[in-house]
Amino acid sequence: MRRRTVQGMLLLAVLAAGLIGLGGGYILWGWPANWYAARDVFKLPATPENQLIQYGWQLVTETPRLIGKSASDPSLRYAGNDLACTQCHLKAGNKAFAAPFVSTFASFPMMVNDEVLTLTDRINGCMTRSMNGQPLPESSREMEALLAYMRFIGEGSPEGVRVTGMGLFPVAPAPEPPDRARGEKVYAHSCASCHGANGQGQRNSAPQVGFLVPPLWGDDSFNSAAGMSRLTTAAAFIRANMPYRTTEAHNPSLGVQEAWDVAAYVTSQPRPAGPADRAASLTSN
Ligand code: HEC
Ligand code: HEC
Repeated sequence: MRRRTVQGMLLLAVLAAGLIGLGGGYILWGWPANWYAARDVFKLPATPENQLIQYGWQLVTETPRLIGKSASDPSLRYAGNDLACTQCHLKAGNKAFAAPFVSTFASFPMMVNDEVLTLTDRINGCMTRSMNGQPLPESSREMEALLAYMRFIGEGSPEGVRVTGMGLFPVAPAPEPPDRARGEKVYAHSCASCHGANGQGQRNSAPQVGFLVPPLWGDDSFNSAAGMSRLTTAAAFIRANMPYRTTEAHNPSLGVQEAWDVAAYVTSQPRPAGPADRAASLTSN
């Protein structure tokens, strides 16, 4: 009896907190808000802080030229490939369900597997895995610029909340086990025209470095520890965003089974070994 009352009170307290949160939210955040309306960073007044935001935007969109493996300044060649952040974080982190950056600044640090993960660590997670390279030094202008840009695009977004559209649009379970052979056919039909028969992508014409269409496997791709090399992540990203210009996560052009099959095909292809795999292969040799 007493226990029930305590539970009831707890429930009420939780409900009340939720309501206050919601009420406060409407007042603070305004409604409806379009968190994904990208603003032109070059229209900001030229203050030192805004210049940092602009550099952050350039790092996300012109990654290969600035910090890629062929970057113009050799001392800044942190990445081990020529991918750009925006090739996965579409529209420079402003596209819903394409791993956007809108709530990113407001939701870090976060707890992952009982450990505190800071935003610098998270960015460096992509530097060492998706970008197959080295971490950016914590106090570098590059790291500061990325943080400033992420704070800017999340301006006014609720603290500690992931707004709708953050992350990836989860794909329904595969009706049948994902199958590479079927995936190869989907790839040939719906992907190869842009990403190439061997997943090699299309390079920009010289002297511009980087890719017009990013590679999906091979030496120039993300490594085996990257999120995109996991079947579920790849299937969710692909179904909501590919073929390119699939704009609505809710109106995909690939079927559920096709997305899983093509993801199984892509993730089974060769790519650089990730940091953990590299360590494992070192100790086993
Ligand atoms: C090959 C694809 C790929 C590339 C290239 C890439 N990322 Fe990521 N990134 C991901 C995926 C996938 C996630 C996890 C998305 C999810 O599941 O929520 C992620 C997550 C992140 C997050 C966490 C966002 C959040 O709020 O949870 C940050 C920050 C980030 N990436 C920064 C970067 C930066 C900066 C670059 C460029 C230097 C970059 N990424 C390049 C695929 C990529
Ligand atoms: C019309 C050309 C086109 C087609 C068709 C296309 N893509 Fe893409 N894809 C792109 C472009 C361009 C990007 C980079 C997006 C950007 O820069 O905004 C991309 C990015 C990606 C990425 C994330 C970046 C990376 O390096 O992994 C994946 C994964 C991907 N595509 C998979 C696929 C799959 C699977 C298909 C077939 C179902 C497909 N794409 C069809 C053009 C295309």
